[in-house]
Amino acid sequence: MDIEKIKREIEELKRQKNAIIVAHNYQIDEIQEIADFVGDSFYLSKVCAERTENVIVFCGVHFMAESAKILSPQKKVLLPEIDAGCPLADMITEEDVDSLKEKYPDYSIVCYINSPAAVKAKSDVICTSSNAVKIVRNFPNDKIIFLPDKNLGSFVKKQVPEKDIILWEGFCITHYKIKKEDVLKAKEAHPEALLLVHPECRPEVVELADFVGSTKQIIDFATSSKAKEFIIGTEMGILYSLKKRNPDKKFYILHPGMICPNMKKNTLESVRNALLYDRYEINIEENVVEGARKALLKMLELS
Ligand code: 13P
Repeated sequence: MDIEKIKREIEELKRQKNAIIVAHNYQIDEIQEIADFVGDSFYLSKVCAERTENVIVFCGVHFMAESAKILSPQKKVLLPEIDAGCPLADMITEEDVDSLKEKYPDYSIVCYINSPAAVKAKSDVICTSSNAVKIVRNFPNDKIIFLPDKNLGSFVKKQVPEKDIILWEGFCITHYKIKKEDVLKAKEAHPEALLLVHPECRPEVVELADFVGSTKQIIDFATSSKAKEFIIGTEMGILYSLKKRNPDKKFYILHPGMICPNMKKNTLESVRNALLYDRYEINIEENVVEGARKALLKMLELS
């Protein structure tokens, strides 16, 4: 495979089709290198809502491309690998939301962006890991159902103790691998390092952290910190930006299994093919787009 040739083809196709490439912080290094925008879920949704190009190639997982389509229904949104899903998003269905609404009619639903479009459509507001605390705090109801991630939900619950928050039992299979013992071992091996973790980690891991935030917030924290060493509790794709922006600092991944198999499905070849063959186009039923868009716009308004 001639990587330089594929990169040139991508550049040329992007120009021809008036397209942009956006990539999540967990994508492989080669994709982050050629992307026009790299970031966390919140940053990327804002980019997709604001840009005027006709085509968005979303290098991430299915729910992210869906969110881009919901925010820009007039654009063509392409996901290079159609089976790049998210097990956490699949842990809740719209029928589950219907049952919750029936059981708890006074509660409002705050839905993490890692969820299917049909679930978003039945929610009052969406949040990402970077703004979940703010959204729950600012939402004008003290009774909240937070779904689908129980770990992000319990982090929010601790920060906003004045609200009554019911959690759904979903979790990210990659972050869930990190246990308290891994943290203790890593801290012993690197006593000078600060521990930065994603709020999708278990509560006993989050409790030991020096900083908890989205992937972009972790990168920003490490970049502005005076510390020189960091233990990182999230998917290892984040090392690309951490090292690029901080060549003089050291980063240690908390657990060797911090690889999201779905995020790693996209390749330079599949990005080229996405542009070349217009695949795989994300389409969402109109009535779902309408409800989900309302909930996503509410997030942009509250954050
Ligand atoms: P961020 O919004 O922090 O990038 O989180 C994305 C994600 O899906 C974590 O698993």
